[in-house]
Amino acid sequence: MLNEKIAKIKEDALAEISLAESLEVATELRIKYLGRKSDFVSILKGLKDLEGEERKNVGQLANVAKIEIENAFSNKEKELKEKSFDFAAEKIDVTMPAKKMTSGHLHPLSRIQYEIEDIFTSMGFEIADGPEVETEFYNFDALNIPKDHPARDMQDTFWLKDEDKNEKVVMRTQTSDVQIRYMEKHTPPFRIIAPGRVFRRESTDTTHDHTFHQFEALMVGDDITVGNLKFMAQQFFSKFFKTDVEIRLRPSYFPFTEPSFEFDINCLVCGGKGCSSCKWAGWLELGGAGIVNQNVFEAVGYPRNKYKGFAWGFGLERLAMMKYKIDDVRLFHSGDLRFIKQF
Ligand code: DAH
Repeated sequence: MLNEKIAKIKEDALAEISLAESLEVATELRIKYLGRKSDFVSILKGLKDLEGEERKNVGQLANVAKIEIENAFSNKEKELKEKSFDFAAEKIDVTMPAKKMTSGHLHPLSRIQYEIEDIFTSMGFEIADGPEVETEFYNFDALNIPKDHPARDMQDTFWLKDEDKNEKVVMRTQTSDVQIRYMEKHTPPFRIIAPGRVFRRESTDTTHDHTFHQFEALMVGDDITVGNLKFMAQQFFSKFFKTDVEIRLRPSYFPFTEPSFEFDINCLVCGGKGCSSCKWAGWLELGGAGIVNQNVFEAVGYPRNKYKGFAWGFGLERLAMMKYKIDDVRLFHSGDLRFIKQF
């Protein structure tokens, strides 16, 4: 009885489906034959009340019929969809204005770095690079910085847990490490700059941050003097600030240079008269410089007293702050888009 009923439903359904001429009709038929209130579904629901063998036979037949009806529906629906595809509506108007794409731009520090690199490459300098995680050897030892130098202290330096027990590892505190790395692989004469990020354990304020940038310069040859140092710096600053810049060297001490200097330029905000940017000095300290200590040459394997060179390490943020008149160094790393978008 039930078997015949199922066969009849299947036959009717397939016949009607084959005649359907629109998706609406197909949907109605789907409800009629497979919907919740359809005869077919009530047969399926009733299966659980049948006994053993009969339940098995009827169940099998019903499942096969269901699959056949469903296939017929999906074939028909596919056929009708293809038929009703509206090519006119799919037309693309290529003259329509495109959606505006918003793109970001370089961070002011990257811009400054690229500008510096351009100026120095135009003066025959090569750009050198080194890792931000550095060994004690490159960051301190090879630079003639004695074991008891205060800069090595926990106060100034981020020491990292050393996996390799033979060598202590630090977040580099200066770009001077690149001097060593470069000299190990090259023979003078050469001139390089090495811009990069450095790290110090620092209480931050408007002019200090724990993460900042320096750019190192190193020029080595047979007879490089303080005259070369002053000339290169003067050339660079005049190009960078597009105005004549005065520089001043004050005697200082760094283990890797001898003699050593603190390096100042005249304050471009007040023209040297004194203002809040230069703390009323008329001069702005940019970093350290000097004539390379022969101990450093020795550490990289050069013969003692064969070469002479100058080196410096200047703060990049300081230059950016002067150029763009920025009054707080912490803004560079604040991630504040209101600041970034001004550049
Ligand atoms: N590395 C020094 C610092 O971070 C700066 C410096 C001083 C770099 C003198 C030099 C130099 O190359 O000759 O304080």
